[in-house]
Amino acid sequence: MSSVLSGARAATNPLRQLTIDQLRQRTSLKWREYPDDVLPLWVAEMDVPLAEPVARAITNAVARGDTGYPAGTAYPEALSEFARRRWGWDGLAVERTALVPDVMHGVTEALRLVTEAGDAVVVNCPVYPPFYAFVAHAGRRIVEAPLGDDLRIDLDTLEDAFRRARAGGRPAAYLLCNPHNPTGVVHTVDELAAVASLAQRHGVRVVADEIHAPVVDAEARFVPYLSVPGAENGLSLMSASKGWNLPGLRGGLLIAGPAAAATWPAFPTTSVSAPATSA
Ligand SMILES: Cc1ncc(COP(=O)(O)O)c(C=O)c1O
Repeated sequence: MSSVLSGARAATNPLRQLTIDQLRQRTSLKWREYPDDVLPLWVAEMDVPLAEPVARAITNAVARGDTGYPAGTAYPEALSEFARRRWGWDGLAVERTALVPDVMHGVTEALRLVTEAGDAVVVNCPVYPPFYAFVAHAGRRIVEAPLGDDLRIDLDTLEDAFRRARAGGRPAAYLLCNPHNPTGVVHTVDELAAVASLAQRHGVRVVADEIHAPVVDAEARFVPYLSVPGAENGLSLMSASKGWNLPGLRGGLLIAGPAAAATWPAFPTTSVSAPATSA
């Protein structure tokens, strides 16, 4: 019986559906930038076919020639519904979201909203290396708060970094990676509430990169940063990119907490857009 079941599972295992020759026909970074004997596992692309409903929506949009500028709120509405079902969070208000070209450009815009040129952005190293380049590109400077030996956020180290970042009373931001890349650590509700309280106490604005949230196993209990008490003036970035293997289509969402409304009108809506978000 168990061998029949495992046979059936193997037949539908998406990781077995594409051959190496089929994967090598892909034109993406993972398959074109490196020699044939190198498998760049750091590139977050899935070696599986697209989920059927996703493939159908994209195919239909292309068949209609429906590839113009995105309009409407289908993307944030879908994310809001997903957040309710998956994380039990009903605070993702569509009117406090904005489409951004992708998560890292959304991070850049968010940092520009809450800090000025030359201000500090705190990161928990080791962290997704492009954080450094994008912070520099935004004209801000990095202040490091290394993770603890247990690879979790060390609150004392973070507080010290917040003090250094706010020296002279300048605005400062904290670029939180939730869940953390590269460790895969999923921050707990208590950790995030402590982070929010520390940020409030030191007047640091939190920008949470939550791009990997949809791939976190339900049992590991991902907690959206904006759902914790004290995080109301935070900003979050989410995307369908990682969960549904869509980085080539671009498209992220910037989400503001309820107390970030004062920041919100400054958002340069004309500079942001994302393709096929209504498909
Ligand atoms: C933590 C993190 N943020 C952002 C990105 C890039 O996202 P995007 O392509 O939407 O800018 C990645 C890609 O791997 C990532 O790991």
